[in-house]
This record gives sequence, structure tokens and C-alpha cells, in this order.
Amino acid sequence: MEFFDTVRARHSYRGKYADTKIPREHLTQIMQAGLDAPSGCNKQTVSLIGVDDPALLQRLLAVMNPPTCADVPALICVLTKKRIAYRDGCGVNRVYNVQDYSAAIENMLLAITALGYASCWIEGHITDADRQGDKMAEILGVPAEYRLICVLPVGVPAEEAKCPCKRDFSQRAWFNGFDPAASGLRLERPDAAHAEAAMQFRQEFFDCGETVINGSELLDRTECYADWLRSVTDNTSPETVSPDWVVTDTFFAVSESGRIVGIIDFRHALNDWLRDFGHVGFSVRPSERRRGYATKMLGQILRIAREAGLRELMLSAERENMPSVKTIVTCGGEYVRSFTHEGAEADVYRIIL
Ligand SMILES: Cc1cc2nc3c(=O)[nH]c(=O)nc-3n(C[C@H](O)[C@H](O)[C@H](O)COP(=O)(O)O)c2cc1C
Repeated sequence: MEFFDTVRARHSYRGKYADTKIPREHLTQIMQAGLDAPSGCNKQTVSLIGVDDPALLQRLLAVMNPPTCADVPALICVLTKKRIAYRDGCGVNRVYNVQDYSAAIENMLLAITALGYASCWIEGHITDADRQGDKMAEILGVPAEYRLICVLPVGVPAEEAKCPCKRDFSQRAWFNGFDPAASGLRLERPDAAHAEAAMQFRQEFFDCGETVINGSELLDRTECYADWLRSVTDNTSPETVSPDWVVTDTFFAVSESGRIVGIIDFRHALNDWLRDFGHVGFSVRPSERRRGYATKMLGQILRIAREAGLRELMLSAERENMPSVKTIVTCGGEYVRSFTHEGAEADVYRIIL
């Protein structure tokens, strides 16, 4: 198959497999394609086990719950071993095993497709908290320093593959810079012209029974927009910042139609009080939620923070507030620690910039 046809033909296959044995030579070719993939600092952290012995295959497939690719004639088990690739200029150890195995898996998926077989990147199921991958690794005699991270079924498909929709090129790829129109959202510093829209924005939270507007620099506690504007403007500069606060940039998130959909603040430093709450707070108005605005807002703040010279941001969210947790994790947040705030469990995340 021609290369670009192979790339486009590859899809995750979750249907039935034909009862056709896979020649060992093909399995070897596919596994070699995996080993030929790039790896960070050439640390070659990926190892592979091909399984075509029917009895062993059945033992491995029996571990998978819910049952997956139960009739497949061969599996490739992907093992990863964490290795420090190098220590960076800041003394941080860089580890690339996830990137390494991702590159190897994609090479193998393309090789599988090119040879006319079907497969699926099965990682989610087997690395969940019940750790089915660990049980499979035990069956295969994998030493403890390796982790079985993914299995790739290999077989002749007996059904049509279902191809999911993918967003158009223009929505995900650009030339010579990020296309701001693609995000459909811009951050605007508050000014006098926002007065009426800002107070309507504020009121909507109260009308929905919410009394706190996170990331609003106390817009929720003020009756007077002009006072609030003076204080957020003063807080943008080290010369005028309030003595009990830190330099903070506050932005309204404004949609393509010109409506304020959210608010976000970026605190340049952490004081004692902010050590739990972090560098960034944000809110999306109730009528505009579940549209991905929070992720776009936070994504734009990451760039602003990077330009301001920060190397990392700390953020926190109450554990029950799944939309906020999702936004932080989507933007690269990694769990650091937990704390309790007004009786609620909250978690602190770090985003490396
Ligand atoms: C890291 C990762 C983990 C995945 N884990 C699973 C999985 O456990 N089970 C599954 O059926 N598909 C899994 N997939 C396949 C994705 O669901 C699939 O790639 C996505 O829906 C896009 O469809 P496509 O592969 O047909 O382009 C995984 C893909 C990736 C990249």
C-alpha cells in the first residue's frame, strides 16, 4: 500500500476477526517497524512480545475485561521501561518513555495496515486502576522494571471498520502561527467599555445561585464596576499592586459574537494564601458551559505565563468539580498534592510551561 493511503486507511478496529493465522514473518516485520521508531536520546525504552501461541493467547485475552478482540489470532504486547534520557539545564531529569512507545505503536499500526490486517491501540482498558496489563505481564514473565502498557491485536478483519469523524484540517492545523480565529475566543483586559456586559455577566452567576466567581479578582464582591476596574488595573503592575496581593493579569474571555463568556486571572507569584489556590483561577458563565471555553481560556493563559517568564503554573480545583479538573488536566496539569478548603477536598496540579 502506498504510504499516504496506509496512513488514511489506518483505523481502530473493534470487530470480529477471521480465523486466519498470521505468518510469523509478518509479525516480525510489524514488530521490527515498532523497534525502528525514534526514541528520546535513542534510549530505546520499548520492548515487544509477540503472542501467536493459541493457548497463551487465550490466557491473556481472558484477563481483558470487558472482553476485547476475543477471537484475534495474534497480539503484540508493548512493554515500556522508564529511563532517564538526560538531565536538563535546570537539573530536571527528562524521561521520554511515553513518547517512545507512542512512536513505536504508531509505526506498528501502520505496518499492520500496510500488510492488510486490522488492529486497535488498546491501552485504556489494560492500564486502568484494575491493572489488567500487570496481570498479563505476569503471565508473560515480564520483569518488574518493565510495564505492559498496550496490546495490539493483529488479524484479518471480518467486518467493516467504523471510522470516526475527525475535525477538519483548518480547525487543527495552520501555517506560520496559531490561528486565533480557530479558537473562537479572545482574552481582553477589562476596561470601561466592558462595564455593562461585565455586570450582567456577574449577575448571571447570582441568578443561578452561585455566589463565588473564581478568577474574577473579587468581581463577585463588588457592586461598583469602576472600583473593581481600578483595583484590577492597579494589580497589573509591581508599582501599583495592592500591598497584600501579587501582580495579577485579569482577562475577560470574549466569544466571536462579542459576548463575555468567562473570566480568568493569572497571578504572577504565589503568596502564603495562594500556595494552595495557585496561579490561575477561572470561571465560565453558567449559560456558556460545556463548550470548551475554559480549556481555550487556560490555554491562552499558559502562553501569557510563558511570555512572563514563568516555567510552571500551579492550579487547584475541588475534586468534585470535574469540569475544572478536566480543563486543568487537558492543559497538561499533573497532580501534586491535596488540601481541604471549607470542608471540600481539593487537589493541586502543576503545569510545566
Ligand atoms: C493512548 C491511546 C489509548 C487508547 N486506548 C484504547 C483502548 O483501550 N480501547 C480502545 O478500544 N481504543 C483505544 N484507543 C483508540 C482510540 O479510541 C482511537 O484511536 C480513536 O478513537 C480514533 O479513532 P481511529 O484510531 O480510528 O482514528 C486508544 C488510543 C490511544 C492513542
